[in-house]
Amino acid sequence: MAQDDVFKKVVAHCKEYGFVFPSSDIYDGLGAVYDYGQMGVELKNNIKTYWWQSMVLLHDNIVGIDSAIFMHPTIWKASGHVDAFNDPLIDNRDSKKRYRADVLIEEQIAKYDEKIEKEVAKAAKRFGESFDREMFCQTNPKVLAEKAKRDALHERFSVAMNNVDLEELRQIIVDEEIACPISGTRNWTEVRQFNLMFSTEMGSTADGAMKVYLRPETAQGIFVNYLNVQKTGRMRIPFGIAQIGKAFRNEIVARQFIFRMREFEQMEMQFFVQPGKEMEWFEHWKAFRLKWHKALGFGDAMYRYHDHEKLAHYANAATDIEFKMPFGFKEVEGIHSRTNFDLSQHEKYCGKNIKYFDPELNESYTPYVIETSIGVDRMFLSVMCAAYTEETVSNGETRVVLKLPAALAPVKLAVLPLVKKDGLPEKAREIMNELKFSFNCYYEEKDSIGKRYRRMDAIGTPYCVTVDHQTLEDNMVTLRDRDTMEQKRVAIADLREMLQDKVSITSVLKKLS
Ligand code: GAP
Repeated sequence: MAQDDVFKKVVAHCKEYGFVFPSSDIYDGLGAVYDYGQMGVELKNNIKTYWWQSMVLLHDNIVGIDSAIFMHPTIWKASGHVDAFNDPLIDNRDSKKRYRADVLIEEQIAKYDEKIEKEVAKAAKRFGESFDREMFCQTNPKVLAEKAKRDALHERFSVAMNNVDLEELRQIIVDEEIACPISGTRNWTEVRQFNLMFSTEMGSTADGAMKVYLRPETAQGIFVNYLNVQKTGRMRIPFGIAQIGKAFRNEIVARQFIFRMREFEQMEMQFFVQPGKEMEWFEHWKAFRLKWHKALGFGDAMYRYHDHEKLAHYANAATDIEFKMPFGFKEVEGIHSRTNFDLSQHEKYCGKNIKYFDPELNESYTPYVIETSIGVDRMFLSVMCAAYTEETVSNGETRVVLKLPAALAPVKLAVLPLVKKDGLPEKAREIMNELKFSFNCYYEEKDSIGKRYRRMDAIGTPYCVTVDHQTLEDNMVTLRDRDTMEQKRVAIADLREMLQDKVSITSVLKKLS
């Protein structure tokens, strides 16, 4: 199936089965804002629990907090967000559509990459098994010509971005003859900077209302609380503070479903270390975070690191963990060595001493920070895309199955009476009432058993048990495995023990130790 089609199907599936709905759906939606439905909220909560437990439960030097979304506005001045959290925007005068100038250029770079890939694919087909990709890319004149154009553009773009040279960004768009996808024209305005923070007012105007921002990242809530936590929790460096919470950005190019949203959720951890030890810890967290992703079992080839060439002004090392989405490898998580930039800035702006006194060194210093920052919604999207599978089954029909890791699945066990009579529903309810304290169970009696299995496949339920007439006599049920579709008779009394370990988050956490 073409990757474009996979993505469209995932989006439709999310809506049809209660995972994700457009926000304000009956009012035709609100751009880049989404609601999670009855299945989505369970999957999302499981992702958050997996992250929280892997950070806070598995590390005795990491604790969690939950800071407010509204914070003192000076925080955003200190962090640099008021002055520098901008996107370069350009408008097409004919279509009146607004674009991010950097995205238009990145898409142009991707077009060169696609041309190269097409040449490679054609040659690979022609030469078959004897094809040597590396040799072909180093010698084929067409590939070399496209690569030279691509690299020159990439270099020019990097310099313009580094120097925040808006005129040069516009000139690149003109020189590359990039046209508006709507109007098809190249009638572009100047490039302007646009701040991504949402703002509102706190207090009534008569009292002198204060302009406040909706936080664009959760990290600053951790920085401004680091000393509170360190002192009250008697934490010693190195230690970390974790937080899960909403963040808001007025994204201009809001596309690709829940990949880029205006209201989204982050799971961030700031790890405070002694200056000079940050690179060691950066490597540690880079490795740990990749292991966390891989432990879900989607296959190692789905992930890659992308080390940043251009570092943010506060960072001395940065990498992304990218996931192979249907629309290419994309950032799901960022790991940054943020130096002591944020804490030093807050110290300067609040005018208080927020240094850490290190009892081992007998000296005070501003800690350096390693940050791991992952978007819950992007993680959710990556899981849905990797899990979505269409299979042809033995009777020639297609079944859609979400091969979710059992630990993340919204429902762990469906309990299905074969028919709606003869005491089978009552027996099924009895099983539900027994097991619902251990994991999320789902009862369903409507439609044929085959249809019910398909519905459970579509929401990723790893196990179903069917209660039939025989059950009333021998207290055994038919247990069906989602992925293999194998069925076997098992005693009701053994169900909890058989399944609990398989569906629990602990089973994945154990892979991390
Ligand atoms: N505190 C660092 C920080 O916020 P970021 O790279 O801007 O860094 C971290 O964001 C993560 O948050 C990203 O890797 C992504 O998963 C998620 N994220 C950022 N912007 C997002 C958006 N508009 N919609 C959904 N997720 C987003």
